[in-house]
Amino acid sequence: MTRSSNETWTVTIVVPEDSSLDEAGETYDLEVGADETILTAARSAGVWLPADCQQGWCTTCAARLVDGDVVHPNARRYYDEDDEAGYILPCTAKPRTDTTVVVDQYDDFLEFRAANDRPPGNSKLDS
Ligand code: FES
Repeated sequence: MTRSSNETWTVTIVVPEDSSLDEAGETYDLEVGADETILTAARSAGVWLPADCQQGWCTTCAARLVDGDVVHPNARRYYDEDDEAGYILPCTAKPRTDTTVVVDQYDDFLEFRAANDRPPGNSKLDS
């Protein structure tokens, strides 16, 4: 079922126990509009998720989609294999269903991109 763009979806943000974020171990349910990014909605609710470029380019915001569906209409660098592996970029990800994401996955995503020969490759991995 599709909804009109003025409707909202429930996005559950899971911050892992081992995260370095102040919110480690917390879970938040947010109402996110179809035209709103998950990052924007989280920050508006006071959940300060990591981000840098906010254009779907740098991968700083990487998260894992564990349930639901999102789209990345404005991401500058997002690949089919990212989608197939369940990685999302919350700075450009907009929900299309109720959704659950695990945030703060930057390190894992860097490894994934490098293993798939996608930018930024090995350039940001610790040697
Ligand atoms: S903040 Fe750069 S890709 Fe999301």
